Amino acid sequence: MGENRFQTVAVVGAGLVGLGWAIVFARAGLNVRIFDGIADIRSRALARISESLADMKRLGLIGDVDAVLQHLHVVETLPEAVSDADYVQESVLERIDVKMDVCREIASAMRPEAICGSSTSGIPASQFTADIPWRERFLVVHPVNPPHLIPLVELVAAPWTEAGVVALVRKEMQRIGQSPIVINSEIEGFVLNRLQGALLNEAWALYAEGAASLADIDAAVSQGLGRRWSFMGPFETIDLNAPEGIADYARRLAPLYHSIAASRQPERWPDDVVQRAEAERRAALPQDGLAQRSLWRDQRLMELNATFVARAVPTSDRA
Ligand SMILES: NC(=O)c1ccc[n+]([C@@H]2O[C@H](COP(=O)([O-])OP(=O)(O)OC[C@H]3O[C@@H](n4cnc5c(N)ncnc54)[C@H](O)[C@@H]3O)[C@@H](O)[C@H]2O)c1
Repeated sequence: MGENRFQTVAVVGAGLVGLGWAIVFARAGLNVRIFDGIADIRSRALARISESLADMKRLGLIGDVDAVLQHLHVVETLPEAVSDADYVQESVLERIDVKMDVCREIASAMRPEAICGSSTSGIPASQFTADIPWRERFLVVHPVNPPHLIPLVELVAAPWTEAGVVALVRKEMQRIGQSPIVINSEIEGFVLNRLQGALLNEAWALYAEGAASLADIDAAVSQGLGRRWSFMGPFETIDLNAPEGIADYARRLAPLYHSIAASRQPERWPDDVVQRAEAERRAALPQDGLAQRSLWRDQRLMELNATFVARAVPTSDRA
């Protein structure tokens, strides 16, 4: 299995995430077959991808748009997408019954040695692959939206996923420019959404008690924590925030963080607080501006990625 390389891949589900995956694979030179259950979505898929590619080209993130597009093919049936794929990325709706049906269809059409990764944000693979053929070749390959602009991918095996499958997907994700991490158990929310959840729970609590405005809480991340987090994680951050490193930081500040944690009870986000936040956000950004603002977000991500590309040490210069 170690010698396998993904050359032909299938993307099943061409929504927000599926189209991002298609770009990830095509810009790495893989042949991509895209399938969606809705004809209208299939017919618009390449036009939507082209718009993103044009922006990426403008910022120097890809060379030639047509060179990427020539690797992308929209097909009319799921078996057509999957039958000669080395790897299948399932990106359909986040519902167990839908995932179960589509994974069964994929299993019955895929080559015996193919692998299928699910984009699911939080459903463990064991909940939708238990009774399907080739279940040892299925796992969760959870991206961050949009996958072509944020490289992190969480790999989560079901108890029956072959260890070699995880190792191969990790290697192949690295080869095509993603940054895979391996989650060692099927923990709810995996790692990324547990970290995001911890921050969101505290943000809602601060907002509910009026500690700061919604905009100022957002600024604490966009103008503060997030500046470092775009290139280092929380452990490396605190390792550099005390003269003698992480243990020194823990000695100095563990009591503060313990006291903060002890002051909170887990709570659902209260409806009235959510309504207040909704009113504030819609005053700042009307509902019909959300799509345009998402494009702005993607362009900011592209600009950020362009700075990483510009600063990257060429392979030949590395020791
Ligand atoms: N949106 C995010 O921020 C995000 C981030 C990471 C992971 N995910 C996960 O990725 C997956 C897709 O999410 P999305 O945001 O792209 O959703 P989406 O609604 O934009 O796209 C889902 C697509 O799947 C298609 N589909 C549904 N059933 C199908 C079937 N049986 N066969 C073929 N196509 C089918 C739909 O027509 C739709 O185009 C979900 O599991 C989601 O949890 C989403």
